[in-house]
Formats: sequence, structure tokens, C-alpha cells
Amino acid sequence: MTSTLITGISELTTNDEELGTRTDAALVLEGDRVAWVGAAERAPRADDRVDLEGRAVLPGWVDSHTHLVFAGDRTAEFTARTAGQPYTAGGIAETVRATRAADDERLAANLRAHIAEAAAQGTTSLETKTGYGLTVEDELRAARIAAAEVDEVTYLGAHLVPPERDAEDYLDLVCGPMLDAVAEHVSWCDVFCERGAFDAEQSRRVLLAARERGLGLRVHGNQLEPGPGVALAVELGAASVDHCTHLTGSDIAALAGSGTVATLLPACDLSTRQPLPPARELLDAGATVALATNCNPGSSYTSSMAFCVATAVLQLRMTVSEAVYAATRGGARALRRDTGSGALGVLRPGARADVHALDAPAASWLAYRPGVPLTHRVWRAGQPVR
Ligand code: NIG
Repeated sequence: MTSTLITGISELTTNDEELGTRTDAALVLEGDRVAWVGAAERAPRADDRVDLEGRAVLPGWVDSHTHLVFAGDRTAEFTARTAGQPYTAGGIAETVRATRAADDERLAANLRAHIAEAAAQGTTSLETKTGYGLTVEDELRAARIAAAEVDEVTYLGAHLVPPERDAEDYLDLVCGPMLDAVAEHVSWCDVFCERGAFDAEQSRRVLLAARERGLGLRVHGNQLEPGPGVALAVELGAASVDHCTHLTGSDIAALAGSGTVATLLPACDLSTRQPLPPARELLDAGATVALATNCNPGSSYTSSMAFCVATAVLQLRMTVSEAVYAATRGGARALRRDTGSGALGVLRPGARADVHALDAPAASWLAYRPGVPLTHRVWRAGQPVR
């Protein structure tokens, strides 16, 4: 196995409780794992050596919420929003039409292009979902295409009732034949629990059927107005509830007293002109927070985790450390990949060697120089990506 010694690290964010954030540090990668972390002057020998000449290093971004199996774009809808039209999620049907009409090669190529775009910006792990097919055949092919490219695939048959179906009849499909068809390709099930999509009882039914099949649970909740999504996610022990834009005090208390991660998607809130989520209140109450892009052609067409981090610091009143943690180890926690051998979002011996070197001396530059591309080098599972 080849080893690489990385030196010249001005600031190393490890996200490890004991190793902390270190200055004048070095790192050894061996195979797909981190082998050693410590002071530069104690660094062991390795096969190769990379001198970062005074740059900051952090774990690769873990983008725990994207919708990347799609075709087409929704430029006109976005432009209408900038002129004052509200976002209603009704545009999902437009992407469903374009996705159904695209062949497998087009969908796979589009997915790969978006993954490559994210990787070039430091994203080393991402989750993606079905949800723009909404027939058994189209959800199955989305799950298959996603599973060929991504480790963490989520079944989102319960994204919206497609225009051609009746709601109860569609739910029977989502909880029965559609779930049976996709189950071998996915590890998670999600539901859009929101007025106009699925109510609490319908959402509970989908999640319980998925749990019965051994899938982990996630929820889209409290995106467009206060609602039952957060309470349902906590009640069922979901790994994550995503959006969390409109939260009541009891939602915040419930999250803080639970193992459910509050995944915030600030790029989506900005793009849809929603208020920003109460990150400070969540953190102060003790909830675990993740940041993710929600990259999709409708509500949030960005793959930039750096943009989410800068927004979290500048507008959600998170500290740089909180925001970087939320975009790395917080995302890994939302995917239950934050501990054990090959853990994501952390740089310590045994963790996956996902390393993001910034063209900056400190992680604070992500917010200090917002909008400036700061990715210098990226390694994913020990292999150089950029
Ligand atoms: O997370 N909320 C539901 N689903 C997506 C929106 C997808 C779309 O508008 O195409 C979201 O924002």
C-alpha cells in the first residue's frame, strides 16, 4: 500500500475530540485510510510527500442531502421567483416529466457530472435520492443509476403524488411494489412531509413500511411552513430531518433531546426566498446540526458546500468551527457514517482518507473570503481528486 505524507499544514481541522484543531501539523495517508496525524516535526517517513506550503486542511465535505438523478433544468421557474413568484414545490412535476423522458445514459452522465463538479470543490461523500421518477419503473432505474455512483442512496418515491395518480392509490404503490423494487439498491427512505405533499399519517405509513424492509429513515420536514415533519422524524428515530426552516420551540427541544440530526439547507432557503433556519437556537439547545447543499434543479441548484458554510457563518450566526463541523462530521452523522473504521468527516488514524486542502491559511477564510474558490487539493479515500 502506498503512503503519502502531507506537510506544510498551517491549520488542521480534525473534528476528533482528542486531536482537535492543530497548527504546524502533518498527516499520513496509507491506502484509503488516514494512518497518522501529528506535529510536523514528528512526522514519520512515507513513500510520497506533498508540501502544502502553509495551507489549511479539513476533512472532505460530506453533502448529506442532494437530488441528483434528474434531467433538465428549471431556469424559468427560478427567474419567476426572482420576480416575486413563490416557491411551491409544484415544479417538481416539471423535473419528473424531463427525467422520465431521458434515457439511462443521459441520467447517469448528468449524475456523474454533478458528482465531479462537487468533488472539484472538496466534496468527498454525498448522498443522493430518487424522487423524480414516481413510477415503479422510473424509481427503480433512478435507484439503480444512483447506486452505481454513490454509496448512500435514498428512496424518495414519496416526493409528491404524480399528477396522473390518486393519493391513496399512489401511497399503496410507494409502500408496496415500488419499495419492493428499489429496496436492494438503497439504504435510506425519505418522505416529503409537508402540506401539498404527504401529511403526518401518510408519511408515517411510508416510513414504517421502509423500516420494516430494513431501511434507515430520513424526513423532509418543516420546509415551507411549520408542520409535523420534525416531530414525526424524532418519534420514529429518523437519522435526520432535513430543511428545518420553520421550527417551533418544541421542535427545537425535541431535536435537542434526540439522536435525529437537524440538516439545514441554507442555499435552498435563499433560492426559494424562505426565512433562514434557526441554527443558533438549535446549537444552543444541544441539537446536532448538519449542513448540506440540497443540490437539485428546482429549489437549490448549487453543489457548493463552501457557499453553505459561508452562509451559515455570515447569516445563520454559526461559528466557523460549528459550520465546518456541520458540513463534514455533522453530515457524516446524518448518514450514520461518523464512527468506526473508515469513518467520514473526521481525520484520525483509521478514518477514510478524505482530505480537503484550502488555498488559505485558515478555515475561517471560507467565510472571510465568501464566493472565492478556495479548494487547492482534494484526496478521496486516499486518491487525489484534484
Ligand atoms: O428538498 N422539498 C422537496 N424536495 C426538494 C425540491 C425539489 C424540487 O423543487 O425539484 C427539496 O427542496
